[in-house]
Amino acid sequence: MTTSSKLFLSLAHNPPNYESIARLQNEFKNKEEFIVEGVIPIFEQILFPHIPEGAHILDLGCGCGYLGSQLHKKGYKMTGIDASEALLSYARKNAPENNFILGDIRQFELPPTFDAVVSIDVLLFIVNNDDLISVFRNVYTALQNNGLFIFSIPLVELMRKTVEEGYMNHVYVNDEYALIELFHYQPEEKIWKIEVTGFELIDKVWKRSDATWLRKDHLLSDVQSALENVGFREISNISPGDESQSACFICWK
Ligand SMILES: C[S@@+](CC[C@H](N)C(=O)[O-])C[C@H]1O[C@@H](n2cnc3c(N)ncnc32)[C@H](O)[C@@H]1O
Repeated sequence: MTTSSKLFLSLAHNPPNYESIARLQNEFKNKEEFIVEGVIPIFEQILFPHIPEGAHILDLGCGCGYLGSQLHKKGYKMTGIDASEALLSYARKNAPENNFILGDIRQFELPPTFDAVVSIDVLLFIVNNDDLISVFRNVYTALQNNGLFIFSIPLVELMRKTVEEGYMNHVYVNDEYALIELFHYQPEEKIWKIEVTGFELIDKVWKRSDATWLRKDHLLSDVQSALENVGFREISNISPGDESQSACFICWK
């Protein structure tokens, strides 16, 4: 096996490593504005009308906890699960009222106590179908009967323009931090290898950190059949905007 295929397998096997760039993630990404302006208006249509105040929601891949914080303000009881201890340490500060669990969403097991499970910008990191089915099965187990599952996921069908243009790179900069994400597309697997480099100014010295992640674009039919396979019903999806690369799925236990 070549070194690059060994690296690929190891990246696919583990959750993305956020530990060294958690501070930058809290600074530039997972932001409250994105949740308030981009997610809550959609939840007002597809989530809030279906679950009563006080209902218990699981935030799958909660990151720095900003979504949980907003949902707590709406009157929901919140639990977040994430594989990154460093991101969870920000989540505990950003949403001190909420519960958090350190865990891999491909492997967790919780009793059927949740009225809803939500997951925003997380399933892009699930890079094969078996793992996607495992995540859906774990969510199904954690939901009460008639529980609601809402998640976003990038779809091959929505990514065509971006793939043709071949450009997904991002650079975020302020006086104390910089974060660079370089995307390399692997067309056969429909996977983006993301090289992440962060810089933080600490005691007047720039500290550099590097990480590599894999991001997968999924086929609509794969997502649909994985959900059906574990028993979800009334599956539908919406595309939140013309330029959106992810679809938002809505389904019920
Ligand atoms: C792009 S961030 C999104 C965070 C948050 N949902 C938001 O919208 O602000 C992706 C999150 O998914 C988490 N994640 C990715 N793969 C995971 C896995 N297998 N198990 C648990 N968490 C995972 C990462 O640690 C990270 O917090």
